[in-house]
Amino acid sequence: MKYERIDSALFVKNRAKFVAMMQPKSLAVFHANDQYPIGADATMPFEQNRDLFYLTGADQEETILIICPQAAKPELREVLFVRQTDEHIAVWEGHKLTKAEATEVSGIRTVRWTSDFDRVFFDLMGEVDTIYLNTNEHYRQAVETQTREDRFNIRVKQQFPAHRVAKTFPIMEHLRGVKESEEIALLQRACDITEKGFRRLLGFVRPGVWEYEVEAELLHEFVRNRSKGFAYTPIIAGGAQSNVLHYIENNRQLRDGDVLLIDAAAEYANYSSDMTRTLPVGGRFSARQAAVYDAVLRVKNEATKMLAPGVLWHEYHQEVGQVMTAELIGLGLLDKADVAQQNPEQPAYKKYFMHGTSHHLGLNTHDYGALKTPMREGMVFTVEPGIYIQEEGFGIRLEDNVVLRSGAEPFNLMRHIPVERDEVESLMNA
Ligand code: GLY
Ligand code: MN
Ligand code: MN
Repeated sequence: MKYERIDSALFVKNRAKFVAMMQPKSLAVFHANDQYPIGADATMPFEQNRDLFYLTGADQEETILIICPQAAKPELREVLFVRQTDEHIAVWEGHKLTKAEATEVSGIRTVRWTSDFDRVFFDLMGEVDTIYLNTNEHYRQAVETQTREDRFNIRVKQQFPAHRVAKTFPIMEHLRGVKESEEIALLQRACDITEKGFRRLLGFVRPGVWEYEVEAELLHEFVRNRSKGFAYTPIIAGGAQSNVLHYIENNRQLRDGDVLLIDAAAEYANYSSDMTRTLPVGGRFSARQAAVYDAVLRVKNEATKMLAPGVLWHEYHQEVGQVMTAELIGLGLLDKADVAQQNPEQPAYKKYFMHGTSHHLGLNTHDYGALKTPMREGMVFTVEPGIYIQEEGFGIRLEDNVVLRSGAEPFNLMRHIPVERDEVESLMNA
């Protein structure tokens, strides 16, 4: 791993919170992700299952966790299985966690080789009535491949048809949605790395530069600061591409007079940051671009103030919609008649601002987190309004990451990343 070791106290605490929500006489199993094939003998870089990481900090393939709080043998109440290693394997495959290291990383005393899993699991299943299966029920998931967990879940249902099945997902969604202070520190670190990358761009972006060169500058800065790289596929969108929400080709040349929309950010220790900034390629926005930029910035600032413990997700989005509507009227993009006649299910502002304002952020960029119950202190959200004007050939989005607090405005993890138009322009021309 490139990141510095995380204190295992975080994972000990996370497991204790999970255990507190388990039913009596139950156990839960969490598996690592597969290593996904590319072809021949090549695999994609490994990405740990985020639930397993949240509970153990183990960032290695073929790892399994069993949590069985009432196991008769106390040493089996939590067991971490890691793939077997020895000096020979270390020479061929590189360093893998030893049992002692797995304990140090996770705080779990009992560590076994993965090859022992079936025996221990079968033994513990005899003591419980309920097994928690881990599934991904994220509201945006669209997974077509079978995961290691999917295969395990199918096997369990066949092998143990008389056990009750329970879901980990509501527990994980509840827990992961509210961040511990250690997690907020990791998110801050990801945002700080993103800041370094962004500042590098302020002296680099100019007419004639290619979008992929901008991408390369960011990646260089991220990796040299202990990040694996981008937290999600970067969007480096010049000119009319700034209106394409999922533009990821990043293969065009930047022209004077264009805007450059950059939605790109670093991960750190598997925690995502998620930043969007929009720059004037030539160093100064046109009057029209500036007016739209300032409108988006005002919506971002207003929306941020609305995020507070107790607020309901859908009410927040409705309120942001009202602020955005007023700005679009101010820009001459909507008129009052459009708004008076609008279908409440498809408000007029959606023509220019067609995506959500916020999402949970954490171990996933679109993180787990409750959306139907009131917001809570410690939740981390993006705030990312945009105005996209097809007929004028440009779009502007600004995106920050904030932590909800009681009795205070949200804490902005991106407070040091320039966003005021004057500051951005003067840094580009410094
Ligand atoms: N970069 C993905 C998002 O902003 O949601
Ligand atoms: Mn983003
Ligand atoms: Mn986002």
